[in-house]
Amino acid sequence: MKVAVTGGSGRLGRSVVAGLVETGHEVVSIDRVAAPDAPAAVSQLAVDLTDFAATVAAFGRTAPEAVVHLAAIATPFSAPEPVIWNTNTSIAFHVVQAAVANGATRVLAASSPTPLGYGNPNGWLPSYLPIDERHPLRPWNAYALSKITIESIVAMFAAQQGKAVALGSFRPCFVISPDEWHGAPTQQGHTVAERLADPALAAVSLFNYVDARDAADFVDVWLRAAADLPPGETFFVGAADAMATRPLAELIPRFLPGTDELAADLVDTAPAFSIAKAAELLGWRPARSWRTELALPIASNPSIPVGARS
Ligand SMILES: NC(=O)c1ccc[n+]([C@@H]2O[C@H](COP(=O)([O-])OP(=O)(O)OC[C@H]3O[C@@H](n4cnc5c(N)ncnc54)[C@H](O)[C@@H]3O)[C@@H](O)[C@H]2O)c1
Repeated sequence: MKVAVTGGSGRLGRSVVAGLVETGHEVVSIDRVAAPDAPAAVSQLAVDLTDFAATVAAFGRTAPEAVVHLAAIATPFSAPEPVIWNTNTSIAFHVVQAAVANGATRVLAASSPTPLGYGNPNGWLPSYLPIDERHPLRPWNAYALSKITIESIVAMFAAQQGKAVALGSFRPCFVISPDEWHGAPTQQGHTVAERLADPALAAVSLFNYVDARDAADFVDVWLRAAADLPPGETFFVGAADAMATRPLAELIPRFLPGTDELAADLVDTAPAFSIAKAAELLGWRPARSWRTELALPIASNPSIPVGARS
């Protein structure tokens, strides 16, 4: 398939681009900036996707069969709230509109788990655990609201396009790119080893994470299955375990008091986010875990069994 990946130079985008090339797709990366380490087979287009005319021209020139939309301001509060809102919502609308107008038949857009509302300084508790795609959404910042809007944009175009275009969205958990297993800083600045050693760091997002290459595998599986899926579906895409060295039945109540009963079933390595929908509808399962990928010891945390480190 000829696939355009927006945001192909980013933390997740680089793995998605590499993964799609490996599985035999022809890939065009559309980003404001080029990735110096992109595979040689990838064409890179420099486009500011907030510019609708430039976006239409880019999709007209490349005419991809499939589009994976990742470009966004990807961190809450990393820019003024109106900038995050305007950028993320306008980019998403421009990309989907330009993609379908130029003949794309599959469009997958990145949402996020943040619309759930965790981390709200005024308080937040899950309605149930593990969290799945039916869980209520209670966004409290422009980034989270922009991601709900992106899911709505996908649903709107799915309704408008019917069987002509398969559209969907996915909510990647906290993305760990391959170099971060070797000590590069994660999106929030700390290393993976530090996040594991201090549970307060990962508690805010309920210890969720996904290896960027597993998310890339999800994208490939979705692209191949898209035409047979119900229209406009959203999927959580996470690891099969938690970014924690202790069971979440113990950790979640420590950081979200009052959740003892809700968290009671999250024993052993069970994560707080269910990926059952992706397994059931797509047959996708993550292949990697911090237990198989982490290259550095978690020196300050003796509770990790030696055999759990690679
Ligand atoms: N990283 C995570 O943990 C995480 C979790 C959930 C969802 N997401 C979502 O996944 C997607 C990718 O995230 P990421 O971590 O790779 O982010 P990133 O910031 O590393 O990459 C985003 C890319 O988008 C590009 N971009 C931004 N504005 C643009 C514009 N106006 N025109 C063209 N390109 C533009 C940037 O240049 C960058 O390469 C985003 O939509 C993000 O919201 C990420």
